[in-house]
Amino acid sequence: MKTRYLLSIDQGTTSSRAVVFSVDGKPVACVHEEFTQHYPDNGWVEHDPADIWRTVLSTCKKALAQLHLNAADIIAIGITNQRETTLVWDRTTGEPLYNAIVWQDRRTTAYCESIYSEQTEALITAKTGLLLDPYFSASKIRWILDQVPGARERAERGELAFGTVDTFLLWQLTQGQVHRTDATNASRTMLFNIHTQQWDEQLLNLFDIPASMLPEVLDSSADFGMTAAELLGGAIPVYGMAGDQQAALFGHACFEQGMAKSTYGTGCFLMLNTGDMPLKSANRLLTTVAYRLNGKVTYAIEGSIFMAGATMQWIVEGLKLLRHAGESEAMVKDVPLDHGVFLVPSFTGLGAPYWDPNARGAILGLTRDSGISTIVAAALQSVGYQTKDLQKAMERDGLRPKVLRVDGGMVKNNWVLSFLADILGAVVERPQIIETTALGAAYLAGLHAGVYHSTSELAAMWHCERRFEPNICTEQRNHLYAQWQHAVAQVRL
Ligand code: G3P
Repeated sequence: MKTRYLLSIDQGTTSSRAVVFSVDGKPVACVHEEFTQHYPDNGWVEHDPADIWRTVLSTCKKALAQLHLNAADIIAIGITNQRETTLVWDRTTGEPLYNAIVWQDRRTTAYCESIYSEQTEALITAKTGLLLDPYFSASKIRWILDQVPGARERAERGELAFGTVDTFLLWQLTQGQVHRTDATNASRTMLFNIHTQQWDEQLLNLFDIPASMLPEVLDSSADFGMTAAELLGGAIPVYGMAGDQQAALFGHACFEQGMAKSTYGTGCFLMLNTGDMPLKSANRLLTTVAYRLNGKVTYAIEGSIFMAGATMQWIVEGLKLLRHAGESEAMVKDVPLDHGVFLVPSFTGLGAPYWDPNARGAILGLTRDSGISTIVAAALQSVGYQTKDLQKAMERDGLRPKVLRVDGGMVKNNWVLSFLADILGAVVERPQIIETTALGAAYLAGLHAGVYHSTSELAAMWHCERRFEPNICTEQRNHLYAQWQHAVAQVRL
């Protein structure tokens, strides 16, 4: 019998990837394409929907072509995506009304502040597990309805559809036949009740968003629809869908309560499985849907940081201190950890646990002997320190994962992971397959296709490539972290 594969679409903040997996979970082809980021105003971040779709389609075609595969060789597609990013389009023409407003975009800060009261935020948190912040989709949808001429009237007439990127891609892949999302993506909109698993009428009223715009919500492993035959040379079923951080948790096989992963992409997202308990954080972490299988919800606690890989992108493209991020490991290998320079990357505000949209970035503690390597080390260490902020918040909530599984572009850097283990005082594990996000989406698709039969079967497929153990004493760890906290306090004045 001919070998068949799973195809993952991983549509991220700065690039789209298509990864073909063999059924034993090995990536056998991987194509990625970057696309333009638009910054039309201070704190605004947009993507052209046409770029999102064009790069997804072309990476899928190229990945199949690399292996001389056609549609019939693909068992199913899994989609994973940058979450919260908001699109609104016309149901008849498919034409987007506005660019995609990206999760990092802060344009709705003033609006969120204007509706803020302790009571309103408590209501939002009780229903959605989120905080009242511009990060999530709701205020972005409202902005489009308010700012694009005629949009609100069209939405009220039922002519418009809203989607996060998963939904938009499914709409494109099915040529407008299917308007669906999964429970993980829905849980990031601030309109979805994570306890009842329904869109919430009270929140729709609060944000003034017509229910007719919303997609149908399915399990993360489900029959989402068939791709239009002409796109990839034949129809392929879409059987998996999850927000990228949830897909990474799934790809890391963190199926048991207390297991945690951290992904270092554009931002950093630390997620801890809390089982069937939607645990409420007292420390401004988010409660979110980790995955939903056969109608059963598994929840997670999440700490979200906006700048991880994006800080290195700024070091490379903005400051031009390196030709590419891969040069950083060799450059910092002799820099001592306690060089005294701190880079706080609050370029678009601070995420968890501070949630301060007004903070801006800073480099502190410079002396005459601070050189490029010190600044690069400080940039890399900022990722570890921010993860420590999340670990501390989780600890205050009574959660302390002993082991952290990591993935994302930055985890190739051994210096970063060794510092991460040092500053956390915890073991950090890098898996053999670091395409973990795409792998999670492939697993979800494979589960529905019957390729895999249980999460325990998937757990047995996870293999560690390298373990990083903490190597500094508690005193040094506490001293470094206290200096970081002092630096963060400076940017929040
Ligand atoms: O919540 C935003 C997140 O999903 C973006 O992920 O990998 O594009 O940084 P990434």
